[in-house]
Amino acid sequence: MGIVESKADVSGGAVQGNPGSNAAELSVILPSFNEAANIPILVDLLDTALVDVAWEAIVVDDNSPDGTTEVARNIARSDPRVRVIRRIGRRGLSGACIEGILASSAPYVAVMDADLQHDETLLPKMLAEIKQDDTDLVVASRKVDGGEIGEGLSSFRTWGSNVANGLAQKLLNVTLKDPMSGFFMVRREKAEEIAPRLSPQGFKILLDLVSSANGALKIKELPFTFRERQHGESKLDTLVTLDYFGLLLAKYFGDVVSVRFLMFGLVGASGLVVHLIALRMFILGDFSFNLAQTAASFVAMTSNFFLNNQLTYRDRRLRGVGALIGLLTFYAVCSVGVLANVGVANLIYADPAYWWLAGTAGAVMGAVWNYAASSALTWRRS
Ligand code: GDD
Ligand code: MN
Repeated sequence: MGIVESKADVSGGAVQGNPGSNAAELSVILPSFNEAANIPILVDLLDTALVDVAWEAIVVDDNSPDGTTEVARNIARSDPRVRVIRRIGRRGLSGACIEGILASSAPYVAVMDADLQHDETLLPKMLAEIKQDDTDLVVASRKVDGGEIGEGLSSFRTWGSNVANGLAQKLLNVTLKDPMSGFFMVRREKAEEIAPRLSPQGFKILLDLVSSANGALKIKELPFTFRERQHGESKLDTLVTLDYFGLLLAKYFGDVVSVRFLMFGLVGASGLVVHLIALRMFILGDFSFNLAQTAASFVAMTSNFFLNNQLTYRDRRLRGVGALIGLLTFYAVCSVGVLANVGVANLIYADPAYWWLAGTAGAVMGAVWNYAASSALTWRRS
């Protein structure tokens, strides 16, 4: 009897939260990179804001050099509501959030910056909203009435954030007012369904979540004021912005091509320009054409390697000897890529009128080969 009862409890409690246990009803995911000074303050604030809620916090730290992991673990030692995930060899806000969400077993998960810029007192209101049957996702929005950017962003960032929002709304048909917000709460089962389609790079987890759900999420937006950062500094940089436009394009094209491949293609295109400039210079320098062409290829491959290492694969960036070995494998991969390129072009080049088709097919084949082979060899997952 007792067993039957407890079984019923477990299944009934899966969604509702089991009153008999102290399982969390809400997991607050705190992605962090160099937030050692902020985490202890934030945990205290959560404790105050969520007095009536069974909550837990999951700090997802990318091995911050300032010791954020240690600071969070120290808190966890005396407060079992705090858990820590330390990721090594990886960077990325979106990826950290996804991992935190997937580490939760609570029915509801919130994602919130760990730098005190997000107003934790909004969490109980978000929880009340999401418990309504008609809501899967609650977004804390700086753009609905009553919400504000406050002192949180410089005027340049505010402008950039508006442009990014406008583009997202136009390209992806996302009706969210603030798709760039990093503060939201979602039903875990919904997030879990969508998780395999999410991109771990960059900052745009919310936009990715909403656009990957293809309209299946019932969304509410609540206003909040973005606070100014007190300790540490922002990690949103030009690369993050580039990556965001990459996501917009990839989603716009229906996910047929990945953000990484797009970035790889852009770098490849820049390589062509580099190649032509180098070729011109070598020819002016009295090299024979063949020699000039070979030398220019090496210059372009080298430039592509470093750009890809910096941009396309920044989450797997090679350093020191690793970068040197990577460069050599990249040369090898690209040399085979040229063969693939010429081979395919030759196959198609039957009718001279369609030289451009043959040339393009060859170049695409070469790019696909370079991409596939370099991600498997040069920037393979460690
Ligand atoms: N684990 C992990 N890995 N966390 C990271 C990383 C990373 O690579 N990069 C940033 N974070 C954490 C920070 O430590 C912070 O807790 C949170 O993610 C937000 O990062 P900030 O660097 O403070 O971002 P921001 O304040 O400039 O940007 C905010 O506004 C943007 C829109 O204007 C964030 O809320 C963004 O999510 C939002 O898109
Ligand atoms: Mn911030």
